[in-house]
Amino acid sequence: MKNKDTLNLDGPWALGEEVFEVVIDELKEKEVKRFVEFGSGSSSVRLSQAFENADIYSVEHDEEYAGKTRELKENYLATDNLKIIHAPLQWQKLDGRLYKSYSKVELPDDLDAVLIDGPPYWTRRGREFCMYQVYDKVRKGGKFFLDDASRLDEMKIVKNWLSLYPNSFECKRYKTKKGLLVLTKKEHVRRKSMSTTSLIDNWSTNLRHLVSNLIK
Ligand SMILES: C[S@@+](CC[C@H](N)C(=O)[O-])C[C@H]1O[C@@H](n2cnc3c(N)ncnc32)[C@H](O)[C@@H]1O
Repeated sequence: MKNKDTLNLDGPWALGEEVFEVVIDELKEKEVKRFVEFGSGSSSVRLSQAFENADIYSVEHDEEYAGKTRELKENYLATDNLKIIHAPLQWQKLDGRLYKSYSKVELPDDLDAVLIDGPPYWTRRGREFCMYQVYDKVRKGGKFFLDDASRLDEMKIVKNWLSLYPNSFECKRYKTKKGLLVLTKKEHVRRKSMSTTSLIDNWSTNLRHLVSNLIK
């Protein structure tokens, strides 16, 4: 017997109803068939309910939370369109830069939308690498949603993306509680292998992280 209540997204770690509404509104005129979410939870179930004709792939680094989302799926979801993928955090190397982020996962091509709501803030640039995992798989016209976009780290992440994929995106910012950025892929471009902006940011961030861990 499925629980008929609606899962609320206004808890401290969840996406928030306000952001969820924007996501739905931004996609209302699109046919959504494949949706990837980084960072699972109640939002995974809500997305699967809102886009019941789409396959939702939710990537989660923490086994415990992957399990909790599986329980929510079991209790709330009447459809079978949600796939929860456990992808532990790993250092990822890319063009001389290092990112603590999700291990690489198998995802389909022709993605319509990607929601980046993980990994947690303490990875610093973990969310940045999500883009590098999926950019080539997102179709032209597809959308990326970055939650917590008004945090300083996320602002740097966006700057790095824009420097590595010049003229690819149309950007829209929403003044939600924690800020939401929507990037629409207007042109498919080849990622630049080098950008001074991203290289300096990456190394200085990792160095600061290392030093603060050493003096703890
Ligand atoms: C911002 S949360 C993602 C939440 C999810 N998108 C939602 O809206 O339900 C990012 C990560 O924090 C972890 N997390 C989820 N709920 C948590 C909680 N209550 N306390 C601590 N960490 C949590 C999970 O590993 C999750 O992937």
